[in-house]
Amino acid sequence: MPETPDISGTPRTAQGSEAAAGGPGRSGAATDSGGADASAAHGKTGATIELENLTKQYPGSAAPAVDSVNMEIKAGEIVIFVGPSGCGKSTTLKMINRLIEPTGGRIRIAGEDVTDMDPVKLRRKIGYAIQASGLFPHMTVARNIALVPKMVGWPKSKIAARVEEMLDLVGLDPGEFHGRYPRQLSGGQQQRVGVARALAADPPVLLMDEPFGAVDPITRDHLQDELIRLQRELHKTIVFVTHDFDEAIKLGDRIAVLRERSRIAQFDTPEAILTNPADDFVSGFVGAGAALKRLNLTRVRDVEITEYPTVKIDDPLQDVFDKLRSGSTNEILLLDRRGRPYKWLRRGDLMRAKGSLARAGTLVADTVTRDATLRDALEAVLTDNTGRVAVTGRRGEYEGVVDMETLMNSVHELLEADRLDAIEHQHHLEEVRAHQTHADQEGDGGGARA
Ligand SMILES: Nc1ncnc2c1ncn2[C@@H]1O[C@H](COP(=O)(O)OP(=O)(O)O)[C@@H](O)[C@H]1O
Ligand SMILES: [Mg+2]
Repeated sequence: MPETPDISGTPRTAQGSEAAAGGPGRSGAATDSGGADASAAHGKTGATIELENLTKQYPGSAAPAVDSVNMEIKAGEIVIFVGPSGCGKSTTLKMINRLIEPTGGRIRIAGEDVTDMDPVKLRRKIGYAIQASGLFPHMTVARNIALVPKMVGWPKSKIAARVEEMLDLVGLDPGEFHGRYPRQLSGGQQQRVGVARALAADPPVLLMDEPFGAVDPITRDHLQDELIRLQRELHKTIVFVTHDFDEAIKLGDRIAVLRERSRIAQFDTPEAILTNPADDFVSGFVGAGAALKRLNLTRVRDVEITEYPTVKIDDPLQDVFDKLRSGSTNEILLLDRRGRPYKWLRRGDLMRAKGSLARAGTLVADTVTRDATLRDALEAVLTDNTGRVAVTGRRGEYEGVVDMETLMNSVHELLEADRLDAIEHQHHLEEVRAHQTHADQEGDGGGARA
């Protein structure tokens, strides 16, 4: 595509070599050596981004908002900046396209130093999408998308075709949406147009600042899925800012957890950050999410299933009474004729039963099998409101119960085990590093080091 000015350099080569050394990214873009070929057919692939001592001191502030950030982002990967509000995520991001001018440090894109490049020219080569889409309200969808291609002088026919292609790409029917104004779109649709506009001139780099922050959770989920799908096709280098750690986990090939002044607390794959948080700040940030994630990763079969007093629907009422009175529980589980959980019976229920179990007790609302996740189990415990959930076999027959306390203790133990694993892993890494340093010193006698 000779019409679109290149960021210069050789982004494809950069992707090939950089990406081959990449970590276990999940998009496949950063690690799949076939990525460069696949995207070659599609125009520009991503470009590397290097930040070197990047600093922003706002006039009149005592401390810099961004303090000497060093970071290398590989061609074709999605890197997420995540961190608390005010830590400098947006400032760091906007320095990459120089919407905010750095007061120190360098920025290189595809190997080219763009720190002193004309910012307007630079911005035409970098897609930018923000919260609430940032569309121009007085322009139609088509004109919004055509903005940058027009500025860089694409011929009219090519722009028109590109607009249709982009609408299609983000899942909007070109015929229907082409001529609408932003106010005639839902929040999610506006956001899609915002992404289409950012991608219109086929830039190698896409910057996104909390782009899905203003839409409802279900739409956000869809937009995230769409972005993952898009990226599988496009292999852009995407830097994405969010304060939502779940979003970071879902979208990121790598996540940079930032603390105040945009200092990097940890820069690694989502898996590594979850299982091996670098310090208390990172664990604190991951914190609550880790417990919920654990609930999803663990099955009922992995926790203790206990016995619970049961009676059969045909048992004589006196037996039921006796069992409840002699047992240690306030409740008893009534099974139907096929041995399936049917009702929870309390002592008071029996008093009111007046000789028949037909109308006594509370129906069992939810059960789980051994294959259910602990999250399902917790859901069932909360639904049934008995403090436990009945576990059933393949034909729905009763096998035991898992109670709330067991659930809590299991998650707690699993998290503790994760933490110990992480510490062990850390020790191992330190040993490897120490070994490496030792070998380096011995190996070349302090000479040139690669
Ligand atoms: N134009 C500005 N002038 C002065 N201070 C600013 C300006 N923009 C942002 N800041 C300050 O810089 C810090 C980082 O802001 P920002 O990058 O927007 O954080 P984040 O995106 O992580 O919420 C904050 O303390 C903020 O108040
Ligand atoms: Mg921000």
